[in-house]
Amino acid sequence: MTSILTPTPANLTTAAEALLRSRVVAIPTETVYGLAGVAFDEVALATIFTVKERPTFDPLIVHVPTPPGDADVHLAELGLLDPSLLGPKARERLNTLAKAYWPGPLTLVVPRGPRVPDLVTSGLDTVAIRCPGHPVAQELLATVKRPLAAPSANRFGRISPTTAAHVLEELGGRIDIILDGGPAHVGIESTVVSVTDPPQILRPGSISKESLETTLSESLAIAKPNATLKPQASPGMLERHYAPGKRFVRLPAPTSSLTDEAVQRLQTLVEGVEGPIALICVLGDARAAATHLRELTGRDVLAHSLSPSGDPNEAARNLFRTLRLLDSTGAALLVAEPLPAATGVLLAIVDRLSRATVPL
Ligand code: TXA
Ligand code: MG
Repeated sequence: MTSILTPTPANLTTAAEALLRSRVVAIPTETVYGLAGVAFDEVALATIFTVKERPTFDPLIVHVPTPPGDADVHLAELGLLDPSLLGPKARERLNTLAKAYWPGPLTLVVPRGPRVPDLVTSGLDTVAIRCPGHPVAQELLATVKRPLAAPSANRFGRISPTTAAHVLEELGGRIDIILDGGPAHVGIESTVVSVTDPPQILRPGSISKESLETTLSESLAIAKPNATLKPQASPGMLERHYAPGKRFVRLPAPTSSLTDEAVQRLQTLVEGVEGPIALICVLGDARAAATHLRELTGRDVLAHSLSPSGDPNEAARNLFRTLRLLDSTGAALLVAEPLPAATGVLLAIVDRLSRATVPL
């Protein structure tokens, strides 16, 4: 039986006790819900992989409380970081970024310390560390007094959960406790940055490349997603991820200028399948695009804009919720408008949508 618990002091104690008994607990963070286990506990770590059906080559993020002083000192004390492998530039980046963005939606990849089990890092010589901004996550970390490994609380490859109810949909019956901290207010996973030379963004998130570059006074490369499922330098960057169960295509052009060939391909995809076409627009009013698509295909079109008012942060907050909603409707096909060339948080939205879709 899976229980959704409000984060009262008594329930936080219950969750902490479960974690200390090698159990896993779903927890709220400001980005998405996580499936947490004590990072030094191999039994808990193995459970995380089993519950998620996650391949062990995909490493986990370790969550820590807010460092009281410089992050490098704190992480070394916890045995998470090997400071001797951190060059002076990397050390400065780690401390600068931690000071500027922690607690918050930023994960920093650093040389792995002696206490980090292989299961956390998939055998890599680096470990990903994040200090979550959600007060419930912080309270739980303070109660457990151990770092918590936590991937997103969804089955592998599926849509990340942004509410306790989504976690129940994904993992109900597989775990005992979901702590309910309300809807995640960022809605998209943390930005992952490797601080060692050359510094790079391994996964875009709500903390933008532009903001990081200003903080560091240097430029950051963005790692390319991996096309294949095998261990690599940035294993989280799988090309196909965050996918709904239904077929989900991205259009080669706006609905107002689709070629006859593209419309034909759409018709082939929905042939013999009942139900409307569900259309996702990232920003702005979706109604005109829906009208075009309805005229072109003769099908009913359910249109959803991630932010009708054009606010990228709102679009991030709505992304996974909307994908989940559309996946559960009776739509024959999910369709995304062409993804805009993007900066800021839009880059993260485009990243997730391009990995959830296939080109038409
Ligand atoms: O916002 C978040 O980061 C959420 C919440 C729960 O904290 N967590 C999350 O975890 O998104 P997960 O497991 O779904 O994604 C972790 C990402 C993966 O893409 C993984 O490959 C990458 O971090 N990662 C972990 N350790 C790494 C390492 N040592 N080097 C490179 N990438 C790493
Ligand atoms: Mg995930």
